[in-house]
Amino acid sequence: MYLILLGAPGAGKGTQAATLVKEFGLAHISTGDLFRENVAKGTELGLLAKQYMDRGALVPDDVTVRMLLERLARPDTAKGVMLDGFPRTIDQAEALAKALQPQGKKIDGVMYIKVPNEALITRLSGRLTCRTCGMVYHVKFSPPKVSGVCDKDGGELFTRPDDTVETAKKRLDVYFAQTSPLIEYYTTRGVLTEINGDQDVDAVGAELVKAVEAIG
Ligand code: AP5
Ligand code: MG
Ligand code: ZN
Repeated sequence: MYLILLGAPGAGKGTQAATLVKEFGLAHISTGDLFRENVAKGTELGLLAKQYMDRGALVPDDVTVRMLLERLARPDTAKGVMLDGFPRTIDQAEALAKALQPQGKKIDGVMYIKVPNEALITRLSGRLTCRTCGMVYHVKFSPPKVSGVCDKDGGELFTRPDDTVETAKKRLDVYFAQTSPLIEYYTTRGVLTEINGDQDVDAVGAELVKAVEAIG
């Protein structure tokens, strides 16, 4: 099963992917997380990606597609994948379809998590991310048990450098210009399901589970 979680920055893609992949035995592939791992390790790819991420812009398609296809080739993807933050442009979507086709695979479902714009900045500016496992928290909506520490592994929680109000706004502009056309793209192809992301985390999760089950 090849699934895509589509939605604006702060819509809850990472939050929901974390539980959904366990439920359905899928590999969670977040291109944002992959870039951040490379930034943390100081790889050549990380150094390049950082220049774009820090200003809220997209990393160029060729670099992103190459990284994604390498990740898709790893054995943990055998039961299927949940893509989070990819594709982000029509060109990325086309490159993905083209790569899957020779293997007899296709995108089975796209879950579009819809959240009102006003809520997105509040979510992003209060987000805390675990340096070790990438798990996300929110200072108000889902705080960790102990301040500054990940519940799961005790890792240090930090604020992503692109979660300042200024950069978050830039990311939203980029989303509306370059990523939101994918809503129509996948609707036309009959694979998009809209999920109401303006509910608490568990309610959104329940809607997503139903949508994935409906795909089979
Ligand atoms: P990426 O890491 O993908 O960031 P994003 O798409 O901007 O999405 P976010 O991770 O910010 O939001 P999310 O939807 O995962 O929300 P979350 O669950 O954390 O990309 C970062 C950068 O990498 C890009 O800007 C770009 O430079 C580069 N990049 C990545 N992929 C790329 C690609 N394909 N092509 C080119 N460049 C790429 O939730 C947010 C907050 O809200 C959290 O605090 C959470 O606790 C809270 N929250 C979640 N759900 C709820 C709820 N229901 N109610 C209340 N609060 C909630
Ligand atoms: Mg995320
Ligand atoms: Zn952690």
